[in-house]
Amino acid sequence: MGAWHNAWKTFFDLVTFQTQLNTALLNSIKGVEIPPTLLERVGVIASKDLQFGDYQSNAAMMLAKMLQKNPRELAQEIIDKIEVDELAELSIAGPGFINFKLKPEAFEAQLLELANDERCGVPEVDAKQTYVIDFSSPNVAKPMHVGHIRSTIIGDALSRISRFLGHEVITDNHIGDWGTQFGMVIWAWKQEVDEAALKQAPLQELLRLYRLASNASKENEEIKNACRQELVQLQAGDAENTAIWERAVQLSKQGLQEIYTRLDVSFDHWLGESAYNAELAGTVQELLEAGIAAENDGAICVFSGGTREKKKDPFMKRDADTKEWADFPMIIQKSDGAYNYATTDLATLAYRRDHWKPDRVLYVVDHRQGAHFHQLFDIAERTNYPAELHHVAFGTICGKDGKPLKTRAGDLPQLDDVLNEAVEAAQKVIAEKSHLDTEEEKVELAENIGLASVKFTELSHNRMSDYNFDLDKMVALEGDTAPYLMYSYVRPQSIFRKLEQEFTLPASVTLTEPQEIHLARMLSRFGEVLPLVLEDYRPNLLTTYLLELARAFHSFFEACPVLKSEGEVQASRLTLCYTTAKTLKKGLSLLGIKAPEKM
Ligand code: ARG
Repeated sequence: MGAWHNAWKTFFDLVTFQTQLNTALLNSIKGVEIPPTLLERVGVIASKDLQFGDYQSNAAMMLAKMLQKNPRELAQEIIDKIEVDELAELSIAGPGFINFKLKPEAFEAQLLELANDERCGVPEVDAKQTYVIDFSSPNVAKPMHVGHIRSTIIGDALSRISRFLGHEVITDNHIGDWGTQFGMVIWAWKQEVDEAALKQAPLQELLRLYRLASNASKENEEIKNACRQELVQLQAGDAENTAIWERAVQLSKQGLQEIYTRLDVSFDHWLGESAYNAELAGTVQELLEAGIAAENDGAICVFSGGTREKKKDPFMKRDADTKEWADFPMIIQKSDGAYNYATTDLATLAYRRDHWKPDRVLYVVDHRQGAHFHQLFDIAERTNYPAELHHVAFGTICGKDGKPLKTRAGDLPQLDDVLNEAVEAAQKVIAEKSHLDTEEEKVELAENIGLASVKFTELSHNRMSDYNFDLDKMVALEGDTAPYLMYSYVRPQSIFRKLEQEFTLPASVTLTEPQEIHLARMLSRFGEVLPLVLEDYRPNLLTTYLLELARAFHSFFEACPVLKSEGEVQASRLTLCYTTAKTLKKGLSLLGIKAPEKM
C-alpha cells in the first residue's frame, strides 16, 4: 500500500473523495461542451444506499440526450476513459447510472490524510465571502425569553461554521433598544423603581417595571397615555428620560452578556436599533427622492415596485374573502412623524453596506417576520443593494404537549430558567450513570450537558419546523442526543488513556473489517457534508452527520477490539479512534458544544 499511497499523496492533500471523483469525471468528458445549467447536475454525489457504491453520477443520462447517444453506452465510454483505477471500481446500473465503489486502499490512504489534517478534511471554500450575521437581537428591558433561543443558537452555529469554512464573518446583535417598551419602563421607573433590586437582579427588576406598566395600561387609558407620553419625551431627547433609558439599556446589556457568556456566544458588534436614530430622517428622504417611497395619508410608505407578479409581490395582499388584491405598503414614517422597526432596518442596511461591504447578510429571525423581510429585501433590490440578503427563518418551540412553550403562569419561559432546568435534568442522569470521581467534576459536566442538550436539540431540527421541548429525552445518554455524541468522543479518549505507550500516527494503515471501512467512509464525508450546511443554512445536516459518524464508531468498536489487538491492526484501529475523536470534537465545537474529556 505504501507505494500506492505515496503516488497519490500530492494529489490527495485535503481533497475529498467527491472532488477527486468529480475531477476525474470531468476530465473524462473534456471534449464535450456542457451547458452551465447541466454542469452542476452531472457531478458525483454520495449514494444514499451503499449497495449502489459510495458515489453515483448520472452524467451519462444527462448528456446522452444532448449527444444523441444511448445512455448506457455513453456510461461505458466514460468508464473506459475515466482515470480512477486506484480509487474506485466502476459499474453501470439501471438506465445508465455510473456507480463508484471505493477500494479499501482508497479509504486507507484517505484515513491517513484525515488523521494528519488539522481541518479534519474540510477544505476552505474557494470563493471567500464577507458574511454579516444578524442574530439573537432580543428586545431589551425584557429578559431574553425562550423564543430568542433559536436565533441565538442557530446564528452562533452558522457563524462558527462559515468562519471555519474560510469566510470573513461579522456578527451583529441588533438589539431592540428603542421600542415602545421604554415608554412603559420609564413610566413605572418613575413610580417605584427599587434600586436595591436593580443592583441585585437588574433584568428581573426591569421586567417587573415593564409588567407593572403594561398591566396597568391595559386597564387604565390614562396610564396608557402617560406611558406613550414618556416615549414621546424620550424620543424628543428629554434629559431625565434619556438618563433612565441609558441605565435601563446598560443594565439589560449586562444581564444579556451573562447569558451569552454562559452559552459561549459572542458578537463582533452590538449595534442596536438606537444606533441608527440619527440616520432615520435621511433614510426616508433618500427613498422619497428615489421615488420608492411616497406620502400617503400623512405617513410615508413604500408601495409595490410594480415589476413582480402580484402573487410574488410583498407589497400586495389578497383579501381572503373578497379575493381582491390590495396594496400592502411598508410604513417607514408614521403620520405623527415617528420612525419604526422598518426604518431602522433600512438604515441598518446602508450602514452595513458602507462599513462592512458584505457579500451576504443573514437575518436569523422568527418566521413570523417573513413579510417584513420580503419587503425589506425588495426595497434593497430596487436600490441595487450590492449584497445577497437572506432571512434564515425558524419555527416555534413547543412544550411536550405540542403547544407553544409557556410557564405555568402562562408567560414565555425565560431563557435562564430553561437552561437551569436542563442542567438539573442533566444532574439526575449524571448521578445515575457518571464515572466521575469528584463533585466538582460532576457539577461542571452537568452544566456542560445541560447547555449542550439545549443547543443540540435546537440545531438537530429542521429550523422551519416547530419542535417539542422534552428535557428528559434531550439529556438522555441514548438516542439522538448531545450526551450520546459526547460519550462517543469520551470513549476513544479513554482508550488512549489506557494505552501503555504513547500513540503516534503510523505511516500506513490497513482496513479489512467492514466496520473499519465504514467508519473510514464516514470520516471521509465530513469535508463533503459541512459545506452543504451553508447552502440553505441548515445546521441539522451537521448534527445528522455527527450522529451517523458516532453510530459507525460504536459498531466498529463493538466488532473490532482495539486494546486487545496488536501490531499494524492495532495501529490502524487507533488511527480510526483518534480521527473519530478529533472529528467529533471539531463537529461539536462548530455547534457551540464542548466535548468533555471524561463523563
Ligand atoms: N428585536 C427583534 C425581535 O426580537 C429582532 C431583530 C432582528 N434583526 C433585524 N435586523 N430586524 O423581534
